[in-house]
Amino acid sequence: MRVDRFLSNQPNISRKQARIYLASGQVSVAGKTVTDPNFAVTPFCQITLDGQPLQSQQARYFMLNKPTGYLSATEDDQHPTVMELLDHNDRHKLHIAGRLDRSSTGLLLLTNDGRWSQKLTEPDKQVAKIYRVTTANPIDPETAEVFADGIYFSYEGITTKPVRLEQLGDKEVRLTLYEGRYHQIKRMFGRFRNPVLTLHREQIGEIKLGSNLKPGHYRPLTDTEIASVIS
Ligand code: URA
Repeated sequence: MRVDRFLSNQPNISRKQARIYLASGQVSVAGKTVTDPNFAVTPFCQITLDGQPLQSQQARYFMLNKPTGYLSATEDDQHPTVMELLDHNDRHKLHIAGRLDRSSTGLLLLTNDGRWSQKLTEPDKQVAKIYRVTTANPIDPETAEVFADGIYFSYEGITTKPVRLEQLGDKEVRLTLYEGRYHQIKRMFGRFRNPVLTLHREQIGEIKLGSNLKPGHYRPLTDTEIASVIS
């Protein structure tokens, strides 16, 4: 958003007044005086007027190792939500970038930066999501080919994008998906009447869960992990 717009969206600042504040050098962004009304600001810029903060929200990014039984939601009447696994101070204004089913486990990303999470979920960005899956019955030999070709979901009227399957065992696979349809993996195995027993997300794009974070624990993302989504 342009800085003059940001200012005139504040209570008691008209568009004319915003331009006057800018022209007279009373506005600064990230500690530097800004006079250009076209200057672009984001929800996480530190913006002051006469030294008084108008906006000082920090962008926050976390990964959580989701345990089974928790809903990927901010609140719910019936089930515990993943937000309950975070400290109160960290929860504020966070949203989930790519949900997991209640029974699923593994990598969940949470942030208050809507532009960042949009980059992860934009269909044309083709961000890979990697899952380890175990099934009730042995994996049908045709599964890899059918998943690579795509499966028609009549409810949405779409064919799923190609999914890569790596066989890990008789009843265990690693899958790479480039989209996230509702219950997608369970529905894909549904075509083979093979119920999914466990579904664990290991990786989203460049961001890996790894083995250090215990189920139910979370940590801030590193600068490299955050930047991997923007680039
Ligand atoms: N596919 C599913 O069926 N469930 C998930 O939680 C994620 C992908």
